[in-house]
Amino acid sequence: MPAPRPRVWVSQPLFDDIVDQLAAHCEVDAVVEVTEHDPVAIAAALREADGALITLNERIGAAELAQAPRLRAIANVGVGYNNLDIPALDAAGVIATNTPDVLTGTTADLGFALLMAAARRVTESERWLREGQWKQWSFSTMLGADIHGSTLGILGMGRIGQAIARRGHHGFGMRVLYHNRSRLPEAVEQGVGASYVDFDTLLAQSDHLLLVLPYSAASHHIIDAAALAKMKPTATLVNIARGGLVDEPALADALANGRLAAAGLDVYEGEPVVRPELLALRNVVLTPHIGSASLATRRAMVQLAVDNLLAALGFGPRAGHPANPVTATKTRTANTAADRITGITTIAGTGKTAAGKR
Ligand code: DGY
Repeated sequence: MPAPRPRVWVSQPLFDDIVDQLAAHCEVDAVVEVTEHDPVAIAAALREADGALITLNERIGAAELAQAPRLRAIANVGVGYNNLDIPALDAAGVIATNTPDVLTGTTADLGFALLMAAARRVTESERWLREGQWKQWSFSTMLGADIHGSTLGILGMGRIGQAIARRGHHGFGMRVLYHNRSRLPEAVEQGVGASYVDFDTLLAQSDHLLLVLPYSAASHHIIDAAALAKMKPTATLVNIARGGLVDEPALADALANGRLAAAGLDVYEGEPVVRPELLALRNVVLTPHIGSASLATRRAMVQLAVDNLLAALGFGPRAGHPANPVTATKTRTANTAADRITGITTIAGTGKTAAGKR
């Protein structure tokens, strides 16, 4: 008898023509309207699933995994995966994947858009004009800060950080400084035109500081009141990574009290809720987490996630070897539900077995 087709949960409406590719190998249970799934709903959806295609909205940890005995693979449509509890996934022997590379340029572009809008007061000017406040051209209207020739600081120097550095250095003649967990090889630094500095130097010397580092317990509120106090009062702060990197009340206070000139935010700690103290400020540009939101890039992300999920479930040209694993469990043999239920997980490529913690 042929093995039953795996069941796959698709948590949000994505692009139907791409998601339909899953149906060649799997039974697909796709959510058709944008939905806020609470943990109970996520656990219920995963209970019968062998795989899941999810977005940053869906948080998956030990509690959800404990109720998902068949689950083998999760494909996250996004490069950031702080919505996933990686140790819990590894303990359960579930492969998780993300979608790097395909969104690098698009996200770097948005970082620059926010930087330019905030530093040159673009959205603030527009609001003021629409309010009918422009009575006469004046020399001192909406004076902002230059981008070209200024010092760009980048915190986090992965793919997106490097793409931003290239834009700043080659496109705008900026002096580019960066800080990162590890220093880049010299040839890469030269290629992107960036110099490594320590964190405090980055804060003190940047005219514009872009946050592009992953969010984790270690980077939680890395930009807090103390960090903001080390920045130039004329500086711009841009966050396109994750909201939890910034202590938002401290940022709002600095922006309201002239200790920081402007900010551009695409991500928020409690998104989609944005703090009223940020909404009330004119010198902050706010966008609704659209870093990767060009049509071509969003399609490429979904395609990559579908390819990763099929590969993780054992189908397609990379069967068993998805291109973008973020778990230590990277490849698997065709585990059966029985393996999971008895708590034995075979980790392919290692020849090891691990007791499932459930
Ligand atoms: C990502 O990929 O992590 C973005 O934040 C979602 O598009």
